[in-house]
Amino acid sequence: MTSHPPPKFMLSSLVTQDLAGLSPIQTIMKMTEERTIRNLGLDPKNVISFGGGWCNHNAPQKLQQIYQEICTDKHLFHQSGRYSAILGDHQCRTELAHFEQTIFNMHNITADNILIGQSSTQLFHDLLRVLANPGEPVCVLDPTYANYINAIKCALPRSLIQYIPALNPLTWTYLEAEQYSLQQLETHCKKGARILVIPVPDNPTSQIPSQSFLQGCYDILAQHNGFLILDMAYETLYFNNMPPCFSWSPEDKPHLITLHTNSKWLSSLGRRLGWIEAAPPIIQGLEKINESVILSPDTLHSMTTARFLQQTLENNQLKQYLSGLRKLYKNTAQVLINALTKNLDWLYLPPAGGLYTCCPTPNHIPPFEFSETLLRATGVLVIPGNGFGPSMNHAIRLSYGPLCYHHKRICEGIERIATHLSTTN
Ligand SMILES: Cc1ncc(COP(=O)(O)O)c(C=O)c1O
Repeated sequence: MTSHPPPKFMLSSLVTQDLAGLSPIQTIMKMTEERTIRNLGLDPKNVISFGGGWCNHNAPQKLQQIYQEICTDKHLFHQSGRYSAILGDHQCRTELAHFEQTIFNMHNITADNILIGQSSTQLFHDLLRVLANPGEPVCVLDPTYANYINAIKCALPRSLIQYIPALNPLTWTYLEAEQYSLQQLETHCKKGARILVIPVPDNPTSQIPSQSFLQGCYDILAQHNGFLILDMAYETLYFNNMPPCFSWSPEDKPHLITLHTNSKWLSSLGRRLGWIEAAPPIIQGLEKINESVILSPDTLHSMTTARFLQQTLENNQLKQYLSGLRKLYKNTAQVLINALTKNLDWLYLPPAGGLYTCCPTPNHIPPFEFSETLLRATGVLVIPGNGFGPSMNHAIRLSYGPLCYHHKRICEGIERIATHLSTTN
């Protein structure tokens, strides 16, 4: 048999140049894979991971029961195999509006403000395509959710990413100079930026920007005919008072767009379903992109979500479930903070919600080197901060979300780090 040389494919400059190398998200996903852990000679059972950016609570039994009902009923199962409308199943969009009214006191919202997609990841990419042209700059906070960076590169080639300062790496304080950050946003808007995206609560810091800061951002973007995108992936996981911006409606604030997902609150990361809330012209623009990217969102998840909301909103079941969830993650966050305070003299950001905290690496060690050495030596996995923004170039992210039912593991993980550092320093 003659052997042929491997073909030299010509691929786009997007994948060969702009997105070349491992992205921060690929790095995170790979570091947490069982195969990677085994390749390092570690037994996954002994590894304590503060790596995963996910919730680990059990999904509500009612949700499981509704999936079962649909799957065992011949007519409903058949119906779940049909395409839904490009905008998404109407019943589900109506129930999602009802969810906003009942859980977050949002008054001015209807199904016309909602479009369903495969996930908030897909919808963020498509939203960028709706709002801006390639080359237009996009603002993010420093630090921010690492996945935004490549999403912007994919959706808007040649667009500059402009960081608005949030975390001060010297004092380890968050948005301590709001006016300065707002001025930076204004400067970028004067140079053509029209988009700022902020997760509330935030990934990776678990902070919630003040209402005055968010209102300031909204006003600046509205003045420049731009958009404030609030990513609500962690909206049900606020630990103290509900942030007032959760009741902001896109009808009252037309320059506001919010991104939502079933991933975290319903523990449905793999049952992909997300939605966007926005003014109707933006929803109509998104419908055009949904059509060519996914054609139609998942009908089984939409039917189940609609039925779940129908059966749990009015009788208060969902409110109770969410209040239990907030307590679970707030307690879990506290266990991590107590363990850090007791065992390590690290700076950290006290979580106001969400799943994470961030700490500077000891002695300014580059975070990748620190994480790898730590994993090999102790079997404890933390996430290097590079990729979340320049302020995290000497920092790590610790996630307590996957350990919400395993508080002892949190304590053990932090103790292992402390023992390792005390013997190596
Ligand atoms: C801020 C933020 N937005 C979106 C997502 C992903 O959401 P989805 O599962 O809907 O793609 C994540 C996942 O970690 C996240 O942290």
